[in-house]
Amino acid sequence: MSSNRKIALHYLQHANWKVLPKEDRELLELATRAARGAYAPYSRFKVGAALRMEEGQVVSGNNQENASFPAGICAERTALHAAMSVMPKGTVESMAIVVPQVRGTRPVTPCGICRQALVEQERRQEGPMRLLMGILRGPVIEMFSVDTLLPLSFDSKNLPGKSRKRV
Ligand code: THU
Repeated sequence: MSSNRKIALHYLQHANWKVLPKEDRELLELATRAARGAYAPYSRFKVGAALRMEEGQVVSGNNQENASFPAGICAERTALHAAMSVMPKGTVESMAIVVPQVRGTRPVTPCGICRQALVEQERRQEGPMRLLMGILRGPVIEMFSVDTLLPLSFDSKNLPGKSRKRV
């Protein structure tokens, strides 16, 4: 027997940054500033990310490229790994992502590898991570969990004999 199943995707689209609370605007601004320091001589696509821990610390990151292209890393994972390397038991409450050079109405959303890394962090911290994806002087997409971006994702529970413990 077969059954039809649907996954609903819930997010907010804000017309601009002004409608957001101060701490969200600050995170988006920090991501914008972080993008300026990106090392992206190959793509010339500078991405900034900034996250806020539940405990209040703020960490930013940007994309770092390499002449051997696959060696590069995205802004989201730079920020995430920097934060988790010093706060291994921390909880990421929100992450903002901005590509200042991208204008229009459609904010940049994380690539597939970053979605996988962010979803693993959600499971590690046993709670949702909010995402704010913003266009400079434009709209913001707000998502309440990374799970929304990567439904039916691969999980360590799928690995034989493995379970992900909060260590
Ligand atoms: N990139 C990010 O840093 N984050 C994204 O969400 C999309 C892509 C980077 C990777 C690479 O350095 C450049 O943008 C072009 O793909």
